[in-house]
Amino acid sequence: MDDKLIYAAPLQGYTDVAWRLAHAGIYGGVDAYFTPFIRVEKGSVRQRDLNNAIQNMPSGIPVIPQIIFGSRDEFIILADTLIDAGATHINLNLGCPFPPQVKHGRGAGALRAALIEEIASIIITRYSFAVFSAKLRLGINSSDEWRPILNILNTIPLDHITLHPRIAAQQYVGECNSEIFDEFLASTSHRVVYNGDIRSVSDIARIGSVHNISVDVMVGRGLLSRPSLALEYRSNEEWCHDKRVSVLRRFHEEIYSTYMTVLCGDQQILQKIKPMWDWLEDEIGHKAWKAIHKATTLRKYESAVADALS
Ligand SMILES: Cc1cc2nc3c(=O)[nH]c(=O)nc-3n(C[C@H](O)[C@H](O)[C@H](O)COP(=O)(O)O)c2cc1C
Repeated sequence: MDDKLIYAAPLQGYTDVAWRLAHAGIYGGVDAYFTPFIRVEKGSVRQRDLNNAIQNMPSGIPVIPQIIFGSRDEFIILADTLIDAGATHINLNLGCPFPPQVKHGRGAGALRAALIEEIASIIITRYSFAVFSAKLRLGINSSDEWRPILNILNTIPLDHITLHPRIAAQQYVGECNSEIFDEFLASTSHRVVYNGDIRSVSDIARIGSVHNISVDVMVGRGLLSRPSLALEYRSNEEWCHDKRVSVLRRFHEEIYSTYMTVLCGDQQILQKIKPMWDWLEDEIGHKAWKAIHKATTLRKYESAVADALS
């Protein structure tokens, strides 16, 4: 066991306020939660998105809002709005592979030297009191696109850079490029966080030993399929299936009761709660997983969940 940091990755549609609150209260084990990206819509940030990005956890685990932008103007609107709302650390999304975002120069589409130079200068002159970090991919179509960008990022006093060593064209599948990750690590003085396909306690431990120096990690889908993953690593105790399912029952109850309080109507609630099961098929079995997804009313849903976790 070492003292590497473990971050919970941003996952749009999954790691919202309710998930983060329940996760921190029931499992924890992570050093920070990164929110799904927020963006500018019709010239400003929607209040709902802002509410999702600014969260003070009773557990004290920091929640770091993430922004996605395609121009200096969008960047300033987002940073001003978040700072006015109390954010002290903002994460820059330079990796989203979603074509509608990339097409508008956002996410992986923002990996453009001219834009990053402008952002660097704004951060240094306008926001010198705030903390920034970045999360990026290697590029859109080529795994060399990060090279000119990293030279610029090296000039900004970032807290860290998280690298997901895939290109946007791969979306979320295919090999992560660990050779290039090592090259990236050697090319920057920033603290580098590894992100990609960490699914088990041994994966977390392995990342440190693969690279010459211990790197911090960010876990996304691994925490959706095994919410206890970071805690298991931290406490040096691998949980058996029975324990995982029993705690999952409490985790679900907490998220479900939040949605029951803030949303109304079966369909609205089902639409929000069902995604929590998307990555849990291995944990509960295919039949139970299918029954949950097929449920059309809360009564049927509750019965399917009770069967799945019995
Ligand atoms: C459904 C989904 C939504 C995501 N949303 C975001 C997001 O809002 N911001 C971001 O930087 N990355 C987002 N990602 C990427 C993840 O944060 C992470 O980089 C990627 O899943 C690889 O890590 P993993 O293998 O640990 O999941 C998303 C990924 C998925 C699958």
